[in-house]
Amino acid sequence: MTRLIIAVDGPAAAGKGTLAKALAASLNLPYLDTGLLYRAVARQMLLKNLDPVTESGEEAARNLQPQDLLRQDLRVPEIDRAASTVATQPLVRTALLQRQRDFAAATGGVVDGRDIGTVVFPQADVKLFVTASARTRALRRHYQLHGDATLSDVALQRLIEEIEARDQKDASRAVSPLRRAEDAILLETDDLDAGAVLQKALSIVRNR
Ligand code: C5P
Repeated sequence: MTRLIIAVDGPAAAGKGTLAKALAASLNLPYLDTGLLYRAVARQMLLKNLDPVTESGEEAARNLQPQDLLRQDLRVPEIDRAASTVATQPLVRTALLQRQRDFAAATGGVVDGRDIGTVVFPQADVKLFVTASARTRALRRHYQLHGDATLSDVALQRLIEEIEARDQKDASRAVSPLRRAEDAILLETDDLDAGAVLQKALSIVRNR
């Protein structure tokens, strides 16, 4: 199973990370969360008071250090928004492309993101496209950030709108938009827990 490359794409909070991490552990492959690259670039820009809408993130992308990806504060709403803005910049995507390819070149790996099956690893051995309704994804994001804390209808509605806005931005950008590769297998996870999604994915990998 060496050098097996598994691409896991899909919209925000669909469970890609949970699945990709579990798949990597089951198959003894390295795992790369490519969203962290865009999040870390966005964070560097915000720290330097650079506006991701009007200023280039290329330098931040080129100078990214491995430890920048390990920070605990990359999953906050301000960085959600800034990352999906900076991800529309072609020079940022180009600067990050080779890093992503190098990551899995020698060892293979499970790589999750938006454009892994379409752009980063179009020759991936297995391509999965993981999705769920915006409501399910909003509930999962809330649980991930706040555990069992109560979620009002108004707050849920706001989360759904934020998720839909980010999907819209990711799917409509000119470069490497979020899109299912033609040969990607669709995994709809609304009615499945993480264990069931993993079992489905493992059987897809085994039967590839
Ligand atoms: O996956 P995550 O939600 O952490 O990604 C944050 C943002 O980074 C996404 O909204 C998307 O705009 C961008 N991204 C991307 N391409 C990837 C991974 C993430 O454009 N391969």
